[in-house]
Amino acid sequence: MSDTPKILVFAGSARDASFNKKLAKLCAGLLEEEGAAVTFVDLKDYPIPLYDGDLEAGEGLPEHARTLKRAFAEHDGFMIAAPEYNGSLTPLIKNTIDWLTRPGPDDDDLRPVYRGKTAALCSTSPGALGGLRGLIPLRLLLSGIGVHVVPDQLAIGGAMQAFTDDGALADDAMAGRLRDLARSLIATTRALNI
Ligand SMILES: Cc1cc2nc3c(=O)[nH]c(=O)nc-3n(C[C@H](O)[C@H](O)[C@H](O)COP(=O)(O)O)c2cc1C
Repeated sequence: MSDTPKILVFAGSARDASFNKKLAKLCAGLLEEEGAAVTFVDLKDYPIPLYDGDLEAGEGLPEHARTLKRAFAEHDGFMIAAPEYNGSLTPLIKNTIDWLTRPGPDDDDLRPVYRGKTAALCSTSPGALGGLRGLIPLRLLLSGIGVHVVPDQLAIGGAMQAFTDDGALADDAMAGRLRDLARSLIATTRALNI
């Protein structure tokens, strides 16, 4: 790795008006300001069918999964804005991660997709807890596939009031904590020299 960590940023929601996409875009800007090379990926641009072992056996990795797998492999770390569904992570995140852990035809040319890499997690939700509960299983899932998830995380409640018209965070303290999270991810990625 050079001194400029490559960080891939995405949200766990496909919908256009997603609060977590707004948050992910903020993360992307902050990471860039703090010295990372950033790629923002909108998972809506890469629709992948729900994982089905028969589909995999018959056709292999779907084309969009192959594209995303290559993109993930090319980065040193991830920053994820993850909505919470029923106290857990969204099927979009789970399905994406599941497909990308499967073997693909390009694997010999690829760096590892997850193992040894870093991640920072944040969330926002209209509710008071801001999606905090969903970050717990996501942290567990990522740790289980070898990702170093930084200890800090940020859940922003009251999503409907949390953003200004130009997409910034209305609360300065929250904005500061999000910047700290971005800094922590960059520092950890540099320290691990991925
Ligand atoms: C199936 C489903 C389950 C949800 N469960 C929760 C929940 O457990 N906690 C919560 O704070 N919000 C929950 N919500 C509300 C979401 O936080 C809200 O729809 C949010 O805007 C989704 O994120 P997005 O704006 O990035 O798409 C749920 C929404 C859906 C569709």
